[in-house]
Amino acid sequence: MYAERVLSGMRPTGALHLGHYHGVLKNWVQLQHEYPCLFFVADWHALTTNYDNPQSIEKSTWDMVIDWLAAGVDPNQATLFIQSRVPEHAELHLLMSMMTPLGWLERVPTYKDQQEKLANKDLSTYGFLGYPLLMSADILIYRADKVPVGEDQIPHVEFTRELARRFNHMYGREPGFEDKAREAVKKLGGKKARLYEELRVRFQQDGDKDAVEQARAMLNDIQHLSTQDRERLFGFLEGTGKMILVEPGYLLTEESKMPGLDGQKMSKSYNNTITLRESEESVAKKIKGMPTDTQRVRRTDPGDPARCPVWQLHQVYSDDATREWAQQGCRTAGIGCIECKQPVIEGILKEQAPMRERAQVYLDDPTLVKNIIADGCEKAREMARETMRDVRESMGLEYH
Ligand code: TRP
Ligand code: SF4
Repeated sequence: MYAERVLSGMRPTGALHLGHYHGVLKNWVQLQHEYPCLFFVADWHALTTNYDNPQSIEKSTWDMVIDWLAAGVDPNQATLFIQSRVPEHAELHLLMSMMTPLGWLERVPTYKDQQEKLANKDLSTYGFLGYPLLMSADILIYRADKVPVGEDQIPHVEFTRELARRFNHMYGREPGFEDKAREAVKKLGGKKARLYEELRVRFQQDGDKDAVEQARAMLNDIQHLSTQDRERLFGFLEGTGKMILVEPGYLLTEESKMPGLDGQKMSKSYNNTITLRESEESVAKKIKGMPTDTQRVRRTDPGDPARCPVWQLHQVYSDDATREWAQQGCRTAGIGCIECKQPVIEGILKEQAPMRERAQVYLDDPTLVKNIIADGCEKAREMARETMRDVRESMGLEYH
């Protein structure tokens, strides 16, 4: 059976914090058991906005990869790599740039938004305008079926889908496509071939979308089908020509509700974070320094957890009994804030302990990390090369 591929990328921002863990990484760790996954460091993407300060990218990349591993992303299950080490991404980006309408790029909502948000930077660059196209290349080059993204990135996946459709429509009409497709149908064998034909007709005559879904599922289930034939059959089904690039779907990652030290959402820009591998002393110090219910001035004043950021962390880290204890203790002034914070400190340390342990192995021997990435890059490149062969072929650049 053809397994759907998952792909996601992250800009190298340096050490990750608990918000990343609860928002993104836990999700990746889960997905790696369910799908073949590709996770990569989007270092070129970092350059689209930080082109004037590239020096920090390398260290941020290694720190981030160690954090992935620390969080439980398993290099034996997922392929981990660095975007710039698979230069095929750039080739696909270039080739697609030839047929990408400027208006499509200008209309991507993040384009104007980010320019306004980062007004201190000159983002009227070619690279920044082309950033969604680069992301499309990242996705399409692996023929990813599912892309886990946050809400803000959904328009980019939609953009990618439209681009794939345009590409297939424009370049998917290989000479003799129809004959080759009919040959491929025959290879399915009597029963499946008949079902395929029936579903194809149902879609093309009645626009029956379920028929497409059913046919796709059937094709995905067939093991012995070559990539070439699979693409032809997908394309023939919908009447678009050969499907060279696969339209991806997205998996919406719920925005992290991880509260930071001040009760706002945990974010580097609010300076309210605890990093994945923050030292135990520092965790304790940060939690002890957290503001509490401002109306609880003296130890003897009763407080209200609803007004307290520490309570939000109890909701992440404490069990029912501890939460009950905190609620009760706070409202009756039965406990002090220092006491109340202790289980939160312990909860965080407990969550971090296995991460710190896993990370230590890599910190002691950084060549392990380099090797994991080198392997991942090699594997990713293999897949990328395969797609590029088809892309070049379809654009008349194969030079036999
Ligand atoms: N643009 C994403 C971000 O800024 C990172 C990214 C780059 C990405 N390429 C990708 C995510 C491909 C998913 C798939 O967060
Ligand atoms: Fe916050 Fe706990 Fe102090 Fe109440 S007792 S104000 S919940 S830290």
